[in-house]
Amino acid sequence: MASEGLSLIVGGTSGIGKHLAQVLAARGGEVVITGRDTARAEAAAAEIGGRTRGLALDLADPASIEGRLAGLGAVKNLVIAAIERDDNSVRKFDVARAQRLVTLKLVGYPEVVHVLASRFSPEAAIVLFGGLAKERPYPGSTTVTTVNGGVNNMIKTLAVELAPVRVNAVHPGIVGDSPAWNGKPPEVLQRVVARTPLGRLVTMDEVSSTVLFLLENQGINGVNLYVDGGWLLT
Ligand SMILES: NC(=O)c1ccc[n+]([C@@H]2O[C@H](COP(=O)([O-])OP(=O)(O)OC[C@H]3O[C@@H](n4cnc5c(N)ncnc54)[C@H](OP(=O)(O)O)[C@@H]3O)[C@@H](O)[C@H]2O)c1
Repeated sequence: MASEGLSLIVGGTSGIGKHLAQVLAARGGEVVITGRDTARAEAAAAEIGGRTRGLALDLADPASIEGRLAGLGAVKNLVIAAIERDDNSVRKFDVARAQRLVTLKLVGYPEVVHVLASRFSPEAAIVLFGGLAKERPYPGSTTVTTVNGGVNNMIKTLAVELAPVRVNAVHPGIVGDSPAWNGKPPEVLQRVVARTPLGRLVTMDEVSSTVLFLLENQGINGVNLYVDGGWLLT
């Protein structure tokens, strides 16, 4: 079961990562959540309750990751959900913002895995978060589309190099009840719903249960799983 052994959720102070931490903590699991700031991470951990601890980790500063994770022991489940949102188009390219997100996802994600590599048991599992901008770009998604495409392939090399540890990715569509969409114009979401065969946006519950499936099912390895209610079909 995913709740046996330590679960580290990088980017677990809000949104989907926090929701997943709540599910694992409610099952009695030992959970460590991270965000950029110690006080915020500890406050989120206290809110989640159970056996949850908070830790500060900035994936955009990869050189600091090893030291930050030094006190952590063996890890059974590693989930990396961290994101800093970026609105970047190639005609109006912001190099600093692009570098930050590229570093966070394409260097920070594998650096966390590198640092923990010797602490995974053979039954350990890793789930990385991408997103479907990799398949369906939108104006301003140049960096997001690029890095999520990177996650799509990153899991394949990690699964081969870390064998038998399993490595998979989840790529959600728009997660309607996630805080990232609070206050966004309803017409944006309505356009997505109109194209979604499910007839609604997917939920944090559905994404969390997908991550649990990827963590628990020993037969699934090197898979990019979409949770979008069929949005990409139309
Ligand atoms: N929400 C959606 O609709 C949606 C759709 C497709 C894909 N996704 C993907 O799903 C994942 C979770 O999304 P979300 O909307 O739930 O995220 P979110 O609510 O914005 O939370 C982002 C998390 O990342 C952490 N974080 C931010 N910058 C960081 C950094 N430099 N280093 C380490 N951690 C950092 C934040 O912690 P602090 O703020 O405490 O630092 C927070 O815990 C992301 O990878 C996103 O790309 C989400």
